[in-house]
Amino acid sequence: MKIPEKLKMVLLFALFILCPKTCYVCSWLAEKCHFFSDVEGLNIASFYHGKTSIAECLSVTDIKEDLRGLPTNLLNLLVQMDLHFHGVLAPNSFSRFGSLENLKIAGCFSEIPPEAFNGLTNVTSLTITALDSKNCCEVALDFSHLPSLTSLFISHHDLSLLALNVFEKIPHLQWLYLDSVCLKDLSDVLCRLANVKLLKLFSLDDWNIRLQYQNCSVFNTTDISTEFSIETVDLLLGKLEHIDEGAFKPFGKLSLLHFSVSNTDFLEDLSLIGVHQISKISAIVDVLNVDDLCVAAKLYSVKSVDVYYKTINLSLTSKGSVGCKEIGYITLENDISREIVNLLDVNSVFQIFSNLTSAAIYRHVLRSNDFQSLCASYPQNVKQLINMVLQTIRIDKIVSHQFMCFVNLKTLKLVMSKISVFEDFAFIGLNKLKELNLHRNKISSIHRHTFSGLHELRVLDLQENPIIYIEPKSFGHFTNLSSFLLGDLNFPPNMSLIKLHLSDIFGVIPYNLSNVFISSGLRPMHLVIGSNTTLNNGLNLHIKGQYVIVEDCNSLLLTSVFTLQIQAAYMICENEFIGKYVPSVVSLEFQSMFSDNIGDLSVINQLVHLKTLKLEKLDLTNLPNMDIMFHNLTKLETLILANCKLFFLDGSLTKDLKALTKLGLIPKDTVNILQTFVDHLTQLRFVYLEDLDLYCSCDNAWLVSWIRDNRKVEVVMSNPSMQDLKCLTDNEVDHISFVSYVTENCSFDLDFVFFACSSVFLCIFIVVVLMYKFVGQYFKPFYHIASGWFREAFRMKEKQQYRYDAFVSYSSKDEHWVIEELLPNLEQRGPPFLRLCLHSRDFQLGHDIVENITDSIYASRRTLCLVSRNYLNSNWCSVEMQLATYRLQTGPAGKN
Ligand SMILES: *[C@@H]1O[C@H](CO)[C@@H](O)[C@H](O)[C@H]1NC(C)=O
Ligand SMILES: *[C@@H]1O[C@H](CO)[C@@H](O)[C@H](O)[C@H]1NC(C)=O
Ligand SMILES: *[C@@H]1O[C@H](CO)[C@@H](O)[C@H](O)[C@H]1NC(C)=O
Ligand SMILES: *[C@@H]1O[C@H](CO)[C@@H](O)[C@H](O)[C@H]1NC(C)=O
Ligand SMILES: *[C@@H]1O[C@H](CO)[C@@H](O)[C@H](O)[C@H]1NC(C)=O
Ligand SMILES: *[C@@H]1O[C@H](CO)[C@@H](O)[C@H](O)[C@H]1NC(C)=O
Ligand SMILES: *[C@@H]1O[C@H](CO)[C@@H](O)[C@H](O)[C@H]1NC(C)=O
Ligand SMILES: *[C@@H]1O[C@H](CO)[C@@H](O)[C@H](O)[C@H]1NC(C)=O
Ligand SMILES: *[C@@H]1O[C@H](CO)[C@@H](O)[C@H](O)[C@H]1NC(C)=O
Repeated sequence: MKIPEKLKMVLLFALFILCPKTCYVCSWLAEKCHFFSDVEGLNIASFYHGKTSIAECLSVTDIKEDLRGLPTNLLNLLVQMDLHFHGVLAPNSFSRFGSLENLKIAGCFSEIPPEAFNGLTNVTSLTITALDSKNCCEVALDFSHLPSLTSLFISHHDLSLLALNVFEKIPHLQWLYLDSVCLKDLSDVLCRLANVKLLKLFSLDDWNIRLQYQNCSVFNTTDISTEFSIETVDLLLGKLEHIDEGAFKPFGKLSLLHFSVSNTDFLEDLSLIGVHQISKISAIVDVLNVDDLCVAAKLYSVKSVDVYYKTINLSLTSKGSVGCKEIGYITLENDISREIVNLLDVNSVFQIFSNLTSAAIYRHVLRSNDFQSLCASYPQNVKQLINMVLQTIRIDKIVSHQFMCFVNLKTLKLVMSKISVFEDFAFIGLNKLKELNLHRNKISSIHRHTFSGLHELRVLDLQENPIIYIEPKSFGHFTNLSSFLLGDLNFPPNMSLIKLHLSDIFGVIPYNLSNVFISSGLRPMHLVIGSNTTLNNGLNLHIKGQYVIVEDCNSLLLTSVFTLQIQAAYMICENEFIGKYVPSVVSLEFQSMFSDNIGDLSVINQLVHLKTLKLEKLDLTNLPNMDIMFHNLTKLETLILANCKLFFLDGSLTKDLKALTKLGLIPKDTVNILQTFVDHLTQLRFVYLEDLDLYCSCDNAWLVSWIRDNRKVEVVMSNPSMQDLKCLTDNEVDHISFVSYVTENCSFDLDFVFFACSSVFLCIFIVVVLMYKFVGQYFKPFYHIASGWFREAFRMKEKQQYRYDAFVSYSSKDEHWVIEELLPNLEQRGPPFLRLCLHSRDFQLGHDIVENITDSIYASRRTLCLVSRNYLNSNWCSVEMQLATYRLQTGPAGKN
């Protein structure tokens, strides 16, 4: 439901006034957007990889409203509309985000006026897709208000509704990607491209298309000069139902043509589409007729072929026999749905494709002596071969001297093929081989001569082989090895111990070793280094096993370890955690299994070079010195505690982590996180919280407002919102909402103070209004009287001197009484002895009479009016009375 803005404000105000639960209000208004300024390091979605300043808004119903909280200097924005939304994309929807470079909109709008993109002067890349990938959205698009656009991606929008000149109006368009745009006819796309001059790349991906002859007037297909100048055209087409002759003629060249035909003769289809060059053909066919393929390769100057087929026919006619000599790259892939039964004659393959740089063969049965006979008869055919991949193949064994003639091969991948037998000298002749990957085979024993001849090898991958036996010096040939991956050591059960002696198997440990993985799978391992070699580079060591015991921890080789990754219950040396012996380590990852024997992990505080630390599946509750474990780690930038058991996290742990920028917390059990935990983390920028389960305690209450309000640290939670955060009550059974616990029990917070202040203010306001209504007319006199009083009092304080204590205003007809009675009583019979001012006695001669009166009134502290019948009849007396009243109202006029 959409709540109008005004109503929202009124409700917000009402809630603010009426109840202290303001944090509910904020979450209820919570943004649909997440903003990430820097997400490197912790894996979030791949969309963000390497990008900075990204916002993602999901289930949006009103773009302006839902994006309100985002910073305006955003560079990358993804807006995913609500599934049921089908409104207009309003004009100026994004005009706040003038810096935006990359905009992605997912949703079906009823209308998108060109003004919708107003203000996006810096957008270079725009993506428009639908949420539902089954249908096409039916809306006209116009990008003329995006002056910098160079890259445009449209998917699941009906192209035929776009104006014919839609792409011409984008002056700098260079890359155009159309994916599933509901083409009924190829003309739909070709006619729209006719005048787009700068286009470098055009990619069309549509599954069900009929390639019908285009009929726009701008093309005259009998005239080759109407070709596009597009450099790269990628066509990824599904089932071709029908092709009109010359359908793609205007393209001239294709860099990639990917299509699927059930028709056995795909060559016939190719001849129809009308182009004269295709760099790469990628096809899904039932039968691959190599003869046809070679004819086509010649015709279209094909350089690269990638075919997926059910059966392959390798027999050649004279026409095809020369055609495949220019192909550099082939991938031959047999249908994945079948057993691996199809035999492929490697000898024939390399006879046909005699100039290959790269060959990949998947899912075939190979004969091992085919390679031998190839080397015997056509050694020059594999001279150029640099990469060879043989994956998921069936072959009995790799016999000796089998690859003799592959003299330039640099990479050989013989993987996932269940090969168990490698004869001695099997790799002789591969003098330039840099990488040998034998991942996921059935190699069980390795002998001194298995790898003879591989002097240049840098990478040897023997992962996931059930290795039972390694003869000493088996790896002695690899003087320049840098990456060595070995596993899973699975020595026979009667050997109680799997013991790997590194110096024994190498003879001399290669100085350039920089990456070592050793696994004993589910069994324990004893590792002996047996050498004090130090390496040229820092070593990245990854050890896996049930548990691992290193026998010679004092070996200097361990001081070369820069990255240590342990996947074992524990890795110890003389009953202590290995950490102590790898003082140079910069990155440490330890994934345990809640084992008790891990040793004293607090030695981690000696690894002062650490920048990354990840601890997983550890029981930190019974570590004696847990609180000092992270001390001294002043260079640590990333800390991840995943699935660790711990009771609480506080400031004593983090006091030295001054450089920490990224923190990941995935607690195993319920925890308390005290506010002091983040107090020292001054550089913290990013926090990832997953499966957070708190105790119901006010100690944790700070988290609610911290997550919500702090602007410096970006907090990403696996819980969809704060409201879903649960906490465990004292009885250790019930889980209740953490936010409601906090508001009910820990409410003396800022919200409450605000509430109290606003309530008091409201009360005063109401009282004032009511008073004004009912006693308003008395305000003005009351004000004057009061201010007179105040001023008078003020004057008294100033000890201002008056000439007289009182001015006596009387009618001269009453003079007798004044002189006889009043004067003696007030002036002489004191104390106090007052000085009176009488007009008959004290008025100054020669002055104007009104001036005299005024002066006397102002020179007197008080005015005494002798009101009698005579007084009321006298004009002068009424003047005096008025002047006295006037003075009463305005106060003394500064005269002395
Ligand atoms: C657009 O890009 C230019 C050059 O990259 C930059 O100078 C300008 O500040 C940007 N505009 C906005 C509004 O960020
Ligand atoms: C091309 O021809 C088809 C049918 O012959 C027609 O439906 C379509 O509108 C034409 N396209 C153009 C751009 O003329
Ligand atoms: C196409 O070009 C050819 C030769 O260049 C010309 O003979 C023919 O009339 C043109 N067709 C149209 C429809 O313009
Ligand atoms: C294999 O290809 C050749 C040459 O094109 C052809 O003569 C032969 O009939 C094909 N064999 C099969 C079984 O299709
Ligand atoms: C073989 O391929 C190389 C490039 O890899 C090319 O220079 C050479 O001309 C090709 N030889 C033949 C006979 O096509
Ligand atoms: C060893 O490999 C390095 C690169 O990893 C290379 O620079 C060096 O030349 C090689 N040394 C020898 C003796 O092959
Ligand atoms: C372990 O058993 C193998 C046969 O399975 C045998 O050849 C070997 O001598 C035995 N080793 C020991 C130490 O008993
Ligand atoms: C390596 O050096 C340490 C002392 O630094 C010594 O105890 C150890 O025996 C040496 N190991 C080898 C194999 O020489
Ligand atoms: C690291 O800190 C602990 C305690 O905080 C201290 O005992 C230890 O000596 C420090 N280690 C180093 C190498 O500084």
